[in-house]
Amino acid sequence: MSVLKILRRKSADQQPYWQSFEFTSDDPNAAVSTALTALNSRSDLRDMSGEKADPIRWECSCLQKKCGACAMVINGVPRLACDSKLAELGEVITVEPLKKFPVIADLIVDRTVIFDTLRELKVWLERGVTPDERAQEAAFEAAGCLQCGCCLEVCPNYYAGGRFTGMAGALPLTRLIAELTDEQRREVLKAYRKRVYEGCGKSLACRKICPAGLDIESLMARSNAAAAWRSLFDLRK
Ligand code: SF4
Ligand code: SF4
Ligand code: FES
Repeated sequence: MSVLKILRRKSADQQPYWQSFEFTSDDPNAAVSTALTALNSRSDLRDMSGEKADPIRWECSCLQKKCGACAMVINGVPRLACDSKLAELGEVITVEPLKKFPVIADLIVDRTVIFDTLRELKVWLERGVTPDERAQEAAFEAAGCLQCGCCLEVCPNYYAGGRFTGMAGALPLTRLIAELTDEQRREVLKAYRKRVYEGCGKSLACRKICPAGLDIESLMARSNAAAAWRSLFDLRK
């Protein structure tokens, strides 16, 4: 049996409170997402003290570690609910919303700031490019970013609304750096230097947290090299 101790809040302006629920499953692969889905499917949801409870608000889409929607703080660590097996989390599991973003309700946070930043950085190609084969590898890796926000949660230098984008903004920029031709790369590098290179403390607290398993260290090293010594980044040599 697992006990899910969930930090709840009815809406943004309400005080948070803890509420615990029991959940049992025979499935060894049951994850936090499985438990949340099952709890919400109970017609008469009650907490461990027998109090009637409202359905638990949380977000999900793919349930396959592909969309990043279900990011939350589980046992104190930011991770994906659909990739957090109950069997590996101990008997009492704490579940909280991400803390670097405004809470909408229960486990749902507003990550608009990530998408606003991406819009501001214009992380898209404005015309077709044919990237070098070696550049494609880095672009492909960087494209795996789910914009889940887990890395921002542990980053000591990131705060919402600040100039530094953290890795959720850096990786889409990294992807562009890897894809663009020399002449197109100048503007992207300028944005990268301002919004990533100069703000990142290189502590690498984000290195092991990424639920998509991205090689943040090596992507960052490539892009930093390009930002600091542009000529070293000529992948076509
Ligand atoms: S290296 Fe440190 S400062 Fe830079 S993005 Fe990662 S956690 Fe943040
Ligand atoms: S780099 Fe990893 S942890 Fe950070 S937003 Fe992208 S997928 Fe999430
Ligand atoms: S629901 Fe898509 S990553 Fe968990």
